[in-house]
Amino acid sequence: MYPLRRNRRLRANEAIRSLVRETIITPNDFLVPLFVVEGKGVKEEIPSMPNYFRYSLDLLEKEVKELWAMGLKSVLLFVKVPDNLKDNKGTEALNPNGLMQRAIKTVKNACPDMLVMTDVAMDPYSSYGHDGIVQNGMILNDETADFLANMSLSHAKAGADFVAPSDMMDGRIITIREALEDDGFLNTGIMSYSAKYASAFYGPFRDALDSAPVDMVDVPKDKKTYQMDYANRIEAIRETEMDIEEGADIVMVKPGLCYLDIVREIKDAVDVPVAVYQVSGEYAMIKAASEKGWLNHDAVMMEQVTAIKRAGADIIASYFAKDVVKLLNR
Ligand code: PBG
Repeated sequence: MYPLRRNRRLRANEAIRSLVRETIITPNDFLVPLFVVEGKGVKEEIPSMPNYFRYSLDLLEKEVKELWAMGLKSVLLFVKVPDNLKDNKGTEALNPNGLMQRAIKTVKNACPDMLVMTDVAMDPYSSYGHDGIVQNGMILNDETADFLANMSLSHAKAGADFVAPSDMMDGRIITIREALEDDGFLNTGIMSYSAKYASAFYGPFRDALDSAPVDMVDVPKDKKTYQMDYANRIEAIRETEMDIEEGADIVMVKPGLCYLDIVREIKDAVDVPVAVYQVSGEYAMIKAASEKGWLNHDAVMMEQVTAIKRAGADIIASYFAKDVVKLLNR
C-alpha cells in the first residue's frame, strides 16, 4: 500500500482535519447538572469542584436564563437538603412544596422550553446517606422502588419533563413507569442511570450535597450492594437491557472516562439514546491538575468530552458544559 496511501495527507492542516473530523461537539450534546440550596442570594462554590456552585432559587433562575442564552437547553436538578429534614425514609422528597419541587417550577417559569430532568434517589434526603431505606444493615429494595415511584410522581406533578432514577434498585424503572402511567403522566420520560458503578469518583458530588453514607453501626459503609462492581461488563448490558424493557426512554453509563468500553458496547447493543455522566471526580481532577499547571484545562476538557461522544454518548451530562460552550464560541 505505502506509498500509495499516506494517511498523513488527511492530517496536513486544520482545514483538512476539520473536513474529515468524525466527532463534533455542540451545545446540543449537553445536559447541565445543577445544585440547588435553600436561601436567597446564595451562590456558593463547592470546595472540591472549583468554579461550580450551589444556587438558591432566585439565582438558579438567573443561571438557567444564562444557560438558555448559550444554547444549553437541558438541565438535571439536584438538591441539598437541610439535615433537620432528613430521615431514613426520605420523607421530605415527597413534599409537594419541597426544594426540588420548587426548583422545577422555578426553571420552568424562567425558561418554559428548558428540558427539566430531576435526580430521583433518596440519598440527599436520607439521614444515612443511602439511596434506599436502611433496615438491619441492609438496603430494602422493593420498598425503596415504591418510594422512588412516588418521588417521580411528585416531580412529574411539579412539571419535570424527565425523571432520572440514579439509585440502582431492582425493578425501579417498571415501578416508576407504571406509577406515571396510572396517574396520567404518559409523556413524562425516564432517563435511567442503568449502568451505574460503585465509584470513588462521586466524592466531590457527595461533598456538594452532603450526601455521603454516614459511619454508623448497622448502616452499610458504601453503596456496593446496589451500584455495580467496576470489574464487570456483561452485567452492564443486562442492567441496561432490563431498564429498556421496563420502560426507560434513555439509558446511562456512569462515570464516563473509565467506562468508555462499556459505553461503546451499550451503544452497539441498544436502540435508545445513551447518556454518559462525566462525574464530579472527573471534573475535579482536571480542575486540580490545571490549577497546578500540570495539564492544559481547555485542551484536556475537549479531549475528554470528545472521547465520550466518540465512544457512543448521545448525551453528555457534564459540569464542563458551560466551559465547553464558551470555548466553542471563542
Ligand atoms: C445520587 C447521585 C450520585 C451522583 C448522581 N446522583 C451520587 C451517588 O450515587 O453516590 C454522582 C454524580 C457525580 O459524582 O457527579 N444517587
